[in-house]
Amino acid sequence: MTKIHHPVLLEEVLRFFGDLKLEVFVDGTIGAAGHSEALLQEHPEIGTFLGIDQDPLALDLARQQLEPWKEKVILKKGNFSDLEDHLEECGLSKIDGMLLDLGVSSMQLDRPEKGFSFNREGPLDMRMDPSNALTAADIVNTWSEKELGRIFRDYGEERRWRAAASAVVQARKKGEILTTTQLVDILFSVLRSRKKQNLHPLTLIFQALRICVNRELERIEQVIPQAIRRLKSGGRLAVISFHSLEDRIVKNAFRYAASDKENTSGIGGMFLSKKPEVRIITRKPVIPTLEEVKRNPRSRSSKLRVVEKLD
Ligand SMILES: C[S@@+](CC[C@H](N)C(=O)[O-])C[C@H]1O[C@@H](n2cnc3c(N)ncnc32)[C@H](O)[C@@H]1O
Repeated sequence: MTKIHHPVLLEEVLRFFGDLKLEVFVDGTIGAAGHSEALLQEHPEIGTFLGIDQDPLALDLARQQLEPWKEKVILKKGNFSDLEDHLEECGLSKIDGMLLDLGVSSMQLDRPEKGFSFNREGPLDMRMDPSNALTAADIVNTWSEKELGRIFRDYGEERRWRAAASAVVQARKKGEILTTTQLVDILFSVLRSRKKQNLHPLTLIFQALRICVNRELERIEQVIPQAIRRLKSGGRLAVISFHSLEDRIVKNAFRYAASDKENTSGIGGMFLSKKPEVRIITRKPVIPTLEEVKRNPRSRSSKLRVVEKLD
């Protein structure tokens, strides 16, 4: 099978798992299995490799890619936020390592029918899991101006969130907004004069809708404590994020797991203590080399953080 994408921060991911004996490994975002294939090659000791993805087409690709290891690979369609249920269904209790390579894949971005890209005409869908009910078109056509403003502000960090929400609500009075091109036409002039000229004016609006449709931030918050609970002592969790909202959640969840303070917001000025569960291995997030960014521009905003489970 020809390689159709470059796994992001691959060398770095391999390095962080390099000195571990991996018996059970979970890739929570298997995609086209680029990272998984390399991990299986480097770690012949792996006995069970669980790959999860919410996109059935990604799982089809992963199945082909991982054919040589089919005896040890289990592929599950589902959300990584149900990690502990997936492990139980597979009869697995503890794991030696887990990788999350967040967000959408290049293949998903390149499929016009998914509507992820402002550069391609397609329906305003944006569901990674096609069995989910909510689409981007539902949000754009039925949510109130206030709700639209909130997601453009909170999930897009779009400075002109008010103007964007108002333009959408005005435009939809004339008829439903159903395609990526329609949304671009409505918002291009409203957002055109933005300061960050290197970004397409619609970048942050598309990001906001995608995060909302797939409840991406919530899913990350849900999975990290489960993964940490399930790691064996000395096991590692590696997470690659692609924008500051994701990275902030990962950073804070790792800090909390590594801290000896309970999250009580200081009831009556008191802090309860707890046992730190992990040690943070990446004091600063690991970012791609210039060579990698040149080879694969989509890697430019990626950040890798890794924790190791304590005894
Ligand atoms: C960036 S790609 C992963 C690419 C993969 N590491 C590779 O080397 O081919 C992210 C994948 O994770 C999946 N995904 C994103 N969020 C998910 C979630 N909450 N649960 C399950 N899969 C998810 C997407 O459908 C996509 O296929």
